[in-house]
Formats: sequence, C-alpha cells, structure tokens
Amino acid sequence: MTPGIKVAQRITERYRTLSPASARAFDAAAKSLPGGDTRTMTTYAPYPLYFSRGDGARVQDLDGRWYHDIVANYGALTHGHNHPALTESVHRQIQRGTALGGPSTLQYEHADLLRARVPALERLRYCNSGTEATMWALRTARAHTGRDVIVKIDGGYHGTHDWGHVSAFMPGGTTHPQLLPDLAPAELAPGVPDSVLRAVVTVPFNDAEAVADVLSRLRGRVAGVIVEPVLGVGGGVPAHPGYLEEVRRLTVRDGVVLIFDECATFRLGPWQVKHGVRPDLSTFSKVVGGGLPIGVFGGRADIMSLFSPSQPQPVHHASAFGGNSLSLAAGTAALKTFGDAEIAHLDRLGERLRSGLDAAARSAGVAGRSVGEGGLSYFHFGTAPPQDAAGTAAARRGRGRLRALVHLHLLNEGFLTARHGLMCQHIVTGTPVIDAFVEAFARTLRVLRPYVADHHPELLRDRPVGPPTPPMEPNGEAAR
Ligand SMILES: Cc1ncc(COP(=O)(O)O)c(C=O)c1O
Repeated sequence: MTPGIKVAQRITERYRTLSPASARAFDAAAKSLPGGDTRTMTTYAPYPLYFSRGDGARVQDLDGRWYHDIVANYGALTHGHNHPALTESVHRQIQRGTALGGPSTLQYEHADLLRARVPALERLRYCNSGTEATMWALRTARAHTGRDVIVKIDGGYHGTHDWGHVSAFMPGGTTHPQLLPDLAPAELAPGVPDSVLRAVVTVPFNDAEAVADVLSRLRGRVAGVIVEPVLGVGGGVPAHPGYLEEVRRLTVRDGVVLIFDECATFRLGPWQVKHGVRPDLSTFSKVVGGGLPIGVFGGRADIMSLFSPSQPQPVHHASAFGGNSLSLAAGTAALKTFGDAEIAHLDRLGERLRSGLDAAARSAGVAGRSVGEGGLSYFHFGTAPPQDAAGTAAARRGRGRLRALVHLHLLNEGFLTARHGLMCQHIVTGTPVIDAFVEAFARTLRVLRPYVADHHPELLRDRPVGPPTPPMEPNGEAAR
C-alpha cells in the first residue's frame, strides 16, 4: 500500500470512528430515501453526517459532537442557528397561524424592507425557493418581451428547473448542440428535455463579448440574460470589474431583460447595491427568509405590473405557500438584523479566510488558491484561480478523491464545509473560528501531502519557510 493510500484510509477510518450514529442513520434513511438523503449536494461518501441541532455558528451531530459551521446551509443562512430575534419572531407567528389564505401585512412590511435596501426592486412577488424565483423571473422576461430565448452562463446555477439545469455545472448529464451550433455544446441533466435548447443559449462567464455576439446573432429573439454576479456552484468566481456593466449596456441596447440571480449574493450587500449595477429583474431567496423557505423575484415596476389583475392579460402567479406568514416573520427579523455592519463583518471574515487559505496552501507546499467575494469563498487546487466554469472544471478534473479527503479531514477536525468546496460564514462567527479553521486547513493539506505526492505530483511545491497562517488579532471579535 502506498503512503498516500494509507493516509486516505486513516482519514476515512477516523471519520467512521467519530460518527457511528450517522452511519446507522444513513442505513435507516436509505430504506426510504434513495442515497440516504434528500439533497444531492449534502450527500457524500462513505455517508453524510446527520445533524440534530444547531446553536450560533455550530451544529451538533447525532453522536453529540459539535462542528464549527463553515457552510451556513450552503450559504442560505447568515444569522447562525437559533438566533434569538429570528426564533422569537417565528414563535410569535406560529401561534397565530402559518398561512391564512389571504394577503397579510407581513408581506408588504417585508417587501418594504427589501425595497429600501435594493433600489432596483421597485415591485416584487413571493414564492418558496430560489428555483421558483428564477423560473418566475425567466417567465416574466418572456411575458414582458414576447420573446423566447434566455441567455444563461455556462456553470450558472439557478436552481433545479429545466432551464436552470442547462450547463448548470452538475456533471453527469449529456451534451447537446445549442441553438447557435458553433457555441460549445450544452450539458443537460438527466430528465431535462433537449427541447429546452430551443429557448436557452449558454455563454462563458466573464465574457461580455460572447453575450454581445449572441445578442446580435439572435437579435429580436432574446427575452433575457440571467447571471449570478458571483458564479456560485460554478466555483465561486467573482465578476471581473466592468463585465456586468458591459452586459447591462448591451441588454439595454437590445431591449433584453437583465436578471441578476442574487439568491446567493444577497449576503454581499446584495452585489448590485455594492457594485452599483442595476438589473431589470432580480431574484433572492435564502437569507431573506431568515432560515425558512422563501423566493423573491421582482424589479422594474413596469415589468412587474404584468402580475396586476388590472392588466388585460395578467400573468397568473399562484403559490399555496408563496408569501406565507412564517417565512416572512423569520425573514423580516432577518432583514432587520442584517445591516451594513453585519455585511462588513461577513466581508472581513471572508477576506481573512481567503488570505489564510492561500497562506495555508503555501505553507503546506500544495498548489491551491482561494476565490470568492465577501462572505462567499471556495478553494481550488492548481496555480491559477478559475475565471469561469471551464477554469473551475479544469481545477477539479481528476481531483474528486483529493477534495473528498480534504472535506472528511476537516470534518474530523470539527469543521463543517461543503464537499464541493463552498465556505460561508454567519454573522455570529468570530475571527478566532476563522483562524482555527485556517490552521485546521493547513494541517489537512500537510497530512495529505503523501497522497498528493502519489496521485497529484503536479500540485506539489517546495515548502516555504514561515508561519502557516496569518497572526491572530489580539481580540478576535464575535458579532454578537
Ligand atoms: C444563485 C442561486 N440561484 C438559485 C438557487 C436555488 O435555490 P433553491 O435551492 O432555494 O431552489 C440557488 C441555491 O443554491 C442559488 O445559489
């Protein structure tokens, strides 16, 4: 057995030793849930940890072990678990009912808070998830323009509807030619019909020329361009300066609806407010629901007026739990306790994390770089940080086991991250936790050096001399 394989075995054995109750839960769950889980992203080998509770910025597994939460439900949470203001608001509301079969004042109170923060959000509507929000934004763009085609980014993730699952960076699908046959083939997830490719065209991220080219060749046919300002599942790649400004200019020129999917980037400010680029429509979810399911789509008042029943042909928008009182009670408390100071705190944590991870990779002598923006970070092996989904795919190719071992070793060290590499923080996370995480990450890479030497020698670097992590601030502060 090679030294690398021995290391891999030790990490997996330790994981099994630490989490026997999760192993048993996995066996029990697999009787009802294919794969023992109900979310593809949270399932991993040999079995995922099953959590029973969360408190602040930590979660506890079935064996009673606490983990620092460095994933924040895949970026969907910002307030930590069991935040007093959110919990109290939900308790109060649940005694009055969850969904009362009519409009409620909670809806416009929450909407007013959102509009006050996001000027482009002149009018909005509620649904139950980011998937629904982006689906509605696309339909709204089509209804407004009377056109069919949507331009989407390679590796852009907008949830699980058919249009969103075109080249959504969920490897495992099949490739198909696009509407413009000289464009790179699109990947469709199993079950997504190739007929969607009559109405979806994909272009690389951070490439405004590609958008210009498609808009000019499909002039008069494109309803909307949908883009995440930071390519999330596609690798945490931030928009280059000027990229989305140029896409904005092009879409205005051609009367195309520009949609920013800010489901993940609300935690940055949201992005459009931080960077001063105004889309026609935006989508939000996650944070704005304070830990309960929510989706929001909205934007220009003239476009959103399509939903008003006073229109000759209003767009029919029904949703049994859209705008439900419980999500809005939690969401209102979340918005009231997530202001500039909290966003700045997340930004500082994210920057500290990324520079710490880069230093950790250097100290371990393993080629890797962090990417991301604000409180949204990824780490990729290799020398060059990806600029689009193809770059992310290249950084990940053939390195699935290595990334899985990093994830498992971090769990063994008591830190919960996402297997695909996402790292997000809560407003209740303090800098000492980030510093401790960076140290655990450095240890992880050092432990894995023999594995890297055996399987990925191209990633090995000479170890430079110097401290593995940046010095801790004397009094790392927690936000609360
Ligand atoms: C940018 C973006 N859009 C849409 C979604 C889909 O949201 P949901 O999982 O609530 O359907 C996500 C979820 O991760 C997301 O990050």
